[in-house]
Amino acid sequence: MAKNDYSKYFTKPSIRDARKRKSKDTEILDFNNYFNVKGLGKNRTFKIETYGCQANEADTEKIKGILTELGFSESAILEEADLILLNTCAIRENAENRVFGELGRLKQYKRNNPDLILGICGCMPQEEKVVNRILQKFPQVDIVFGTHNLFKLPEYLETVILSKERVIEVFSEEGNIVENMPRIRDNSKKAWVNIMYGCDEFCTYCIVPYTRGKERSRLPEHILKEVQELIKEGYQEVTLLGQNVNSYGNDLKNLDYRFKDLLNDLYEMDIPRVRFTTSHPKDFDEETVKIIAKGGNLMPYIHLPVQSGSNVILKRMNRKYTKEQYIQLVDWIYEYIPSASITTDIIVGFPGETREQFEETLDLVRKCEYEGAYTFVYSPREGTPAATYEDNVSMEEKKQRLYELNELINDGYLKGTKRFEGKTVKVLVDGFSKNNDEILAGYTENNKLVNFTGDSSLIGKIVTVKVVESKTWFMLGEQID
Ligand code: 5AD
Ligand code: SF4
Repeated sequence: MAKNDYSKYFTKPSIRDARKRKSKDTEILDFNNYFNVKGLGKNRTFKIETYGCQANEADTEKIKGILTELGFSESAILEEADLILLNTCAIRENAENRVFGELGRLKQYKRNNPDLILGICGCMPQEEKVVNRILQKFPQVDIVFGTHNLFKLPEYLETVILSKERVIEVFSEEGNIVENMPRIRDNSKKAWVNIMYGCDEFCTYCIVPYTRGKERSRLPEHILKEVQELIKEGYQEVTLLGQNVNSYGNDLKNLDYRFKDLLNDLYEMDIPRVRFTTSHPKDFDEETVKIIAKGGNLMPYIHLPVQSGSNVILKRMNRKYTKEQYIQLVDWIYEYIPSASITTDIIVGFPGETREQFEETLDLVRKCEYEGAYTFVYSPREGTPAATYEDNVSMEEKKQRLYELNELINDGYLKGTKRFEGKTVKVLVDGFSKNNDEILAGYTENNKLVNFTGDSSLIGKIVTVKVVESKTWFMLGEQID
């Protein structure tokens, strides 16, 4: 749709600038001040493809909210949409390759429909090399914006639609907080609630601190108001989102309110389930464990990425904890919350990881009794320190390590479901199972998938179920009462 000349919007990102952390206070912007082109989407449809983590899923809900306010409606079929946006992930190379493949495929839609607007947003555009590749190889892309400026989408669409100019605008600055964004949530019972944005950890393998800016916490009153509204709308579960939820509030100057306070306040509220992700072991202390141990709506499920079981590798990853400190935390969790389920993230094949160091990771996995894990082969990310580290481990060896690790993790999954066999669990029912529309599917407090027979009136409710059989990835149950 757009001509090849650029609009007034042409700003490329820079990894060097994205690394900077100034002491400038975070600004809180009001979305309503950026929203002055209502009606622009009348008689137009959109489709968004989302890649990556929950932060992206939450952003997609905001983009859908903006587009709906503009008058767009969601198209059921990708090919028929007037606007296609790819909300992308930069965490590993294979995620990026999928997006470039998809952009190539979407070229043909553009041929069939020259008015189609094609956009890319999210984490990938925060990388200069990605923007350069789009400029060189993908002239069919009309809009490129990053994670810091999705609130300006109305302006960008106005430029592309009315002036037929291309928009490339990606900021590398540390980022602000934008409140009052409209939102079309994906699920009517379970909601993501951002409690903070960005990351200040700079783990040496990770691109996130560059793509999502500095760590900045939302004000408690904004978070609690959002949860209050969700309760009014009948939501049953909130998941608090942040790259390191345990450091929530550290940047709130003049305010002594931290993650523990937030958990305590939510514990008092009328929302049946509170979850949070992601926890960083270095900031997760004994007192936080004790608060979660109060139970109630604070769910006994903790995702606690360890990344490696070797102190040498942890140090080179800049994780800022030792294996011993991590195990201490896990011990507290099992001591104060005996029913807890813990899952983790692990990277194998970090540059220079020896066989012995990998085996330390296997030992740690056995010790921590994880009931699940996301496991990855290390993927170098340009601009991060680890991308420059010497690596003498072959890809074949890395894949072998991943295989061995996954075998062990799968044992943990099965043990984690087996321990519930014959027990009674509470299931928040999501809907019918994918393969059978007489069987309901939902998640327990420990985040285990359960299938059981029941009718549609149970969808969205918390139902008591007896587990009759446990498989590795799910449990079969029967409704009681
Ligand atoms: N290579 C492989 N895995 C990575 N992760 C983050 N960066 C990389 C990388 N460069 C993993 C970490 C993190 C999860 C979200 O993704 O395990 O916890
Ligand atoms: Fe990446 Fe580490 Fe921040 Fe997680 S805590 S987003 S792994 S830098």
